[in-house]
Amino acid sequence: MIQQEDQFKKVISHAKEYGYVFQSSEIYDGLSAVYDYGQNGVELKKNIRDYWWRAMVQMHDNIVGVDAAIFMHPTTWKASGHVDAFNDPLIDNKDSKKRYRADVLIEDYCAKIEAKIDKEIEKARKRFGESFDEAQYRSTNPRVLGYQEKIDGTLKRMARSLETEDLADVKALIEELEIADPLTGSRNWTDVKQFNLMFGTKLGASAENAMDLYLRPETAQGIFVNFLNVQKTGRLKIPFGIAQTGKAFRNEIVARQFIFRMREFEQMEMQFFIKPGTQQKWYEHWKETRLKWHLSLGMGAENYRFHDHEKLAHYADAACDIEFKFPFGFKELEGIHSRTDFDLSQHEEYSGKKLQYYDNEENKSYVPYVLETSIGLDRMFLAVLSNSLVEEELDNNTTRTVLRIPAVLAPTKAAVLPLIKRDGLPEIAQKIVDDLKWDFNVDYDEKDAVGRRYRRQDAAGTPFCITVDHETLENNTVTIRHRDSMEQERVPIQSLKELIKKQTDVKHWLMKM
Ligand code: GAP
Repeated sequence: MIQQEDQFKKVISHAKEYGYVFQSSEIYDGLSAVYDYGQNGVELKKNIRDYWWRAMVQMHDNIVGVDAAIFMHPTTWKASGHVDAFNDPLIDNKDSKKRYRADVLIEDYCAKIEAKIDKEIEKARKRFGESFDEAQYRSTNPRVLGYQEKIDGTLKRMARSLETEDLADVKALIEELEIADPLTGSRNWTDVKQFNLMFGTKLGASAENAMDLYLRPETAQGIFVNFLNVQKTGRLKIPFGIAQTGKAFRNEIVARQFIFRMREFEQMEMQFFIKPGTQQKWYEHWKETRLKWHLSLGMGAENYRFHDHEKLAHYADAACDIEFKFPFGFKELEGIHSRTDFDLSQHEEYSGKKLQYYDNEENKSYVPYVLETSIGLDRMFLAVLSNSLVEEELDNNTTRTVLRIPAVLAPTKAAVLPLIKRDGLPEIAQKIVDDLKWDFNVDYDEKDAVGRRYRRQDAAGTPFCITVDHETLENNTVTIRHRDSMEQERVPIQSLKELIKKQTDVKHWLMKM
């Protein structure tokens, strides 16, 4: 646990030191759960967005994009259910005066039991060695089964109570489990209350005429209200999808864990419109497709798992998360939701406009069902950053800090370094930069010894360092050093573009899907 916390602290300080993420308005002591992206962060974010967009929109003949406004007519949120049902169950500790999400307290309690299971399994793995069968051990060991039963029973009861709005039972559960304030250990709790997560604002110049608006809490509704506009103008046939990336806002109460849970964040969502009755097939399809997208980045299959929702959102008939192993454990990275015809039907009812599709094959009109994939861009950023940061022991008893960001996502693809600052080497290096920058983000660096420059680029996540030396003057070759292996090869200057392109190209990575 301490190791995990240490790793997380390192990720946060590295993100700041290398221009990835800064606290918002830091000079005024910051704004809680709001962050700014620095010079490297903005590039990484752009590359993740582009990697998603290319996979979802460009590579699918039947998926198109939109860019809807953040402000929407306020009735949108009445229809979508967010005004009435987009709530978090909150509980206050009377002694510490701290406020918590009741469901998070219960989930954290279960995560602690899960850690006990992991410990039992690790012990058994050591005891049985090669012949250890984890699945069998999980299904037969009485202690593990007891723990698992406790987790399942607790989560089921919580889901039932939240679904039926039985907040008294949520409080009773917290008391029965003897859950204490994580900061002070006090068990003196208030009742559980619901709290709406939408931020409100006003449109209009004068107070009397101002219209109450909300900042959108998800990008999805901008897609639903444009469903017919896009379908008709694009002459799209079901099944088809509409994708969108953009900011969303939630007044999160338990806003912690850096950019994992923010008040202003960015989503990458796709709504896939389908024939009613086919939702199970498409649910499986998008689960598989989205997992493949994650795996294509090579961040370790063992770091992902599916988690089926016990408590379904007000719009869903099936839902799961793709969870990622963050430094603080497995947590939701992306949601796959079967949203039925809830949203379009609601918008039909509230707007009085038909939102139906005429199916030529069926010879009838219907409100399509929707399969949604929804991933937080900032959360994906944190997954990439935390997975990439490594401290390596080297052969010569030194260590190096390296950010092994998948090359396709790296903010800067190559740094060009003249070995020394004279003999015409800087001029050649600058010429290489001028040529490569048409195709890639490249950096020129002549300060300090070349070894230190390599370390700096490793820590910033640059996959290639190109060094111009005296041999370059003789035969127009340079060395190219690979960040992860630290291997160097000598190559002609003319081959650099092809070489870098091959390893940073979206196609090369997405082909692994
Ligand atoms: N349209 C469906 C929807 O918004 P969600 O599960 O509430 O579903 C989808 O959010 C994704 O958005 C999550 O899996 C997560 O990656 C991201 N997300 C949600 N709330 C967030 C927050 N406060 N900060 C950062 N990312 C968030």
